[in-house]
Amino acid sequence: MPFARALLTLGLVLVPLSAAAGQGAVSAQVYEGWRQYSVHCARCHGQDVLGNPVTANLLETAAPGGAVAEEEPFTTVVLEGRPDRGMPGFKDQMTPEQVAAVYAYVRGRAAGEIPAGRPRREDA
Ligand code: HEC
Repeated sequence: MPFARALLTLGLVLVPLSAAAGQGAVSAQVYEGWRQYSVHCARCHGQDVLGNPVTANLLETAAPGGAVAEEEPFTTVVLEGRPDRGMPGFKDQMTPEQVAAVYAYVRGRAAGEIPAGRPRREDA
C-alpha cells in the first residue's frame, strides 16, 4: 500500500520536526523572568546567567544541589540582598511575582533546560 507507506513516512518526518520546534520554548512566566533578569540582574550576574567573575555564578549555585537551587533561599537573597557583599536587595523594586519569574528562569538556565539568548515563548 504505497499511500499508507507515504503517510507513515511523512509522519516519521513531521513528528520529530515538530518536537524539535518545541525545544527551548518557554512559558510566559519564564519569559517574563528572562526580561526581569535582563533588566535587574544581568549587569552583575552576566547576560543569560553566563556569569561574571566578581559575583556568585548562578549557573552553579542555582543548579540542582546548589546553595540557592530551592526557591526559598533564592528569594530571600533577592529580596533582602547581601548588602555587605555587594548584592543589593530588590524588595522595593520587584513584586513577588517578578522574583518568582526570575527564579523560574534562572533555575531553568542552571538546570540546562533553557538555552542562552532570548527565549522563545511557547504561546507566541
Ligand atoms: C550590583 C550587582 C548585583 C546585582 C544587580 C544583582 N546581584 Fe546578585 N549577587 C551579587 C553579588 C556580588 C553576590 C555575591 C554575594 C556573596 O558573596 O554572598 C550576589 C549573590 C546572589 C545570590 C546568592 C548566590 C549564592 O550562591 O549564594 C543570588 C541568588 C543572586 N545574587 C541573585 C540575583 C538576582 C536574581 C538579581 C536580580 C534581581 C541579582 N542577584 C542582582 C551582585 C549583584
